[in-house]
Amino acid sequence: MDRTFEDYRNLVDEHLLDFLPNVDNKSISLYESMKYSLTAGGKRLRPVLLLASCEFAGGDVYEAMPYACAVEYIHTYSLIHDDLPAMDNDDLRRGLPTNHKVYGEAIAILAGDGLLTSAFEAINKDMMLYFDEPEKMTRRIKAAYEISKGSGCRGMVAGQVSDIEGENVQYSGEMLEYIHLNKTGALIKSAVRAGLYLGSPTSQMLNDMERYAENLGLAYQIADDILDVVGNPSELGKEIGSDSKKHKNTYTSIYGLDASVSRLKELTANAVEVLQPYYDNAEFFRDLVLQLEGRKK
Ligand code: IPE
Ligand code: IPE
Ligand code: MG
Ligand code: MG
Ligand code: MG
Repeated sequence: MDRTFEDYRNLVDEHLLDFLPNVDNKSISLYESMKYSLTAGGKRLRPVLLLASCEFAGGDVYEAMPYACAVEYIHTYSLIHDDLPAMDNDDLRRGLPTNHKVYGEAIAILAGDGLLTSAFEAINKDMMLYFDEPEKMTRRIKAAYEISKGSGCRGMVAGQVSDIEGENVQYSGEMLEYIHLNKTGALIKSAVRAGLYLGSPTSQMLNDMERYAENLGLAYQIADDILDVVGNPSELGKEIGSDSKKHKNTYTSIYGLDASVSRLKELTANAVEVLQPYYDNAEFFRDLVLQLEGRKK
């Protein structure tokens, strides 16, 4: 496992459009708007985690590529919908005007639908190559299940619902954690678990990495909440102050900035601790969570 975050990100960027279906010319605006948001930039955290987890469990990154790209399609759809006027009503994303600002709300909604369904089309197309290899097929089914579970009604979508319903309502810390673990943590956890399944993980590894991903996922959204208060829009590629404008429940609104920073540090330390038994083999994951703790974008 000698690859860096940048190595994995470059691989993802190189292959990101490869698994989109060929769209009929008559629907070219759909393809253009999907491509617009996908290629606008983005840190590629989730697909990188999937590829790194796959290699960590002894799998092949190229075989995992459709799954990594599918996770980024799902994440990008979630951002397009998250920015819509009916949701967070934001104008800037990944350093560019949001999808609906360019293509209109109807096409933005449909681009999100297109990305979500393309993710599962890509996964199913890949699975069809393995009818005669039951062991590889089994791994793929498990990976696909993880991805669908994390992105759906028991994961990201559920978290987004509670986030929206919590606008103008004061939530408990427990409810806030539920939102964050779902709207952001669930897909991150799925990316890790799906990647592991595409290799040959031990059950101990699956458990440990699940704990790592939970800590990282919650930390990632707390950092996002902090950056919405103290971030720099030109670095972030999105406006700040969006959460307070919508009276959202966030770590900073409930606990304040200092306590949010302490919690972020605590979760980062927990994630590092989980990796201890893996020594140098887990260096990539250790470096990653430590870098994300101080992220500015
Ligand atoms: C933004 O995700 C929304 C959250 C769930 C925090 P990222 O911060 O990973 O956004 P991109 O993909 O880099 O644009
Ligand atoms: C995003 O949460 C969660 C998603 C599933 C997209 P936010 O609404 O805080 O994300 P940003 O700050 O708009 O990127
Ligand atoms: Mg939101
Ligand atoms: Mg938002
Ligand atoms: Mg945010």
